[in-house]
Amino acid sequence: MNYHFEASANPATIHTDCVIVGIYKQGKLSAAASQLDAASEGAITAHLDMGDFSGDKHRTSLVYKLPGVTSKRVLLVGMGEKDKLTQESLAQLTQTAVNALKTSKTNNVVSFLTDEIAPDFLEAAVRQTVTAVTDALYTFDQFKSKKDEAARPVLAGWTVAHTLAGDFSKPLSHGIAIAEGMCVARDLANSPGNVCTPSHLAMVAQELANSSNKTDVNILEEGDMEALGMGSFLSVSKGSAQDGKMIILQYHGGKTGEAPLVLVGKGITFDTGGISLKPSAAMDEMKFDMSGAASVLGTMTACIAMQLPLNVVGMIAAAENMPSSKASKPGDIVTSMSGKTIEILNTDAEGRLVLCDALTYAERFNPAAVIDIATLTGACITALGHHTSGLLGNSDALAEEIIIASKQASDDVWRLPMGEKYQDQLKSNFADMANIGGAPGGTITAACFLSRFAENYPWAHLDIAGTAWKSGAAKGATGRPVPLLCQWLINRAGT
Ligand code: BES
Ligand code: MN
Ligand code: ZN
Repeated sequence: MNYHFEASANPATIHTDCVIVGIYKQGKLSAAASQLDAASEGAITAHLDMGDFSGDKHRTSLVYKLPGVTSKRVLLVGMGEKDKLTQESLAQLTQTAVNALKTSKTNNVVSFLTDEIAPDFLEAAVRQTVTAVTDALYTFDQFKSKKDEAARPVLAGWTVAHTLAGDFSKPLSHGIAIAEGMCVARDLANSPGNVCTPSHLAMVAQELANSSNKTDVNILEEGDMEALGMGSFLSVSKGSAQDGKMIILQYHGGKTGEAPLVLVGKGITFDTGGISLKPSAAMDEMKFDMSGAASVLGTMTACIAMQLPLNVVGMIAAAENMPSSKASKPGDIVTSMSGKTIEILNTDAEGRLVLCDALTYAERFNPAAVIDIATLTGACITALGHHTSGLLGNSDALAEEIIIASKQASDDVWRLPMGEKYQDQLKSNFADMANIGGAPGGTITAACFLSRFAENYPWAHLDIAGTAWKSGAAKGATGRPVPLLCQWLINRAGT
């Protein structure tokens, strides 16, 4: 897909396959629709007067060969009520427009939908228009022997047009980078566990580093981790024939010596639960248990593409959680890299076991901030459903930054509390802590566990168990929270 931005565009005189304009509830015309109506001597109004299409939200009507209008087609998109339009609903309306054109022979479109957003929100709207279009056109047919070429949309060019002047090339290029990062994350998370192994993630990280002269990669093998004393990570990876890997990508876009921002992704390439085996229903979905890692690789991809003036470290704790004669057993006690001992009461609480050693390792970067991203708890789905990621952490300032970025990116988060009372649930009779805190507040106690390894820097934790993928008919990865992470980096870079 090629994206462009065009300011001061006149919808009536554009030579393209389709111009997209909004119609509000009860047939109220958007600015661009009014221009078309004037140029066509009232053809749009006449079309609306027929009563088939009224501007109700998400309704569309495709009109051909409007007199006085050079575009071959005009797509009218029902926008609903004007005062309820937000950048988020605009992104959804953009997807409605894409879907309406999917089966047509439209190659290039010029869309005036983004034109409807108030100037203050226009940058975010431009970014989100791009990610929404890419999202609506995303397909994953890598593993289908017969690709359905006929069903593939021919749409190849999208121009974000504005009736007023302005330069939005930066948000446009950022949107393109974020969309690409989301595709990287989705492709990885959608890939099956027998393909997307820890070694595969390491290879993808290696290729990413090779593609950028500002990025290098370091991969800790199990032997290296043994030497570092990462007994917690290894207690998970040792149960699998697949070697665990700690992947460390470093992007040097900022000043030398400037404290980096560190992203740490949970990269469990398949989570069977281990000896605390999961039930078999929908267990296939546990291939998505590396979505945190995928979001780190996607965000690093976008960061490199945006050339952000920051130092960013992307760490991935990659392992497969399997039951075997070498696997950890409930009651086993292991020593983490921090020296703290952990009683593994449930081998299915493996994410925190691999992440804690990554968080300890992150100290050596003297980070300005660390965010870990993990499909950590089923409890987070119970608490927040599939729309909102859980946010926890030890720094109010960092949490606030993430909340602001999430709003700008329409990639929702909600902060959950932490504190001593929850920490107490992790008490163990035999070790410094247990790896589970019982059913009540499962997302919170998981974060409490991680907090004990993140005491020396501002830290936030995103539980994306509910938001990283969809179940059911539309089963697949969403690419979240790449938009949020990228927006946070953009804000940090001050660009
Ligand atoms: N990967 C799962 C969390 C998960 C479950 C994500 C369902 C998405 C959907 C994680 O490793 C896990 O198994 N967590 C346990 C923790 C429990 C044993 C304390 C859970 O949520 O049941
Ligand atoms: Mn698990
Ligand atoms: Zn897991």
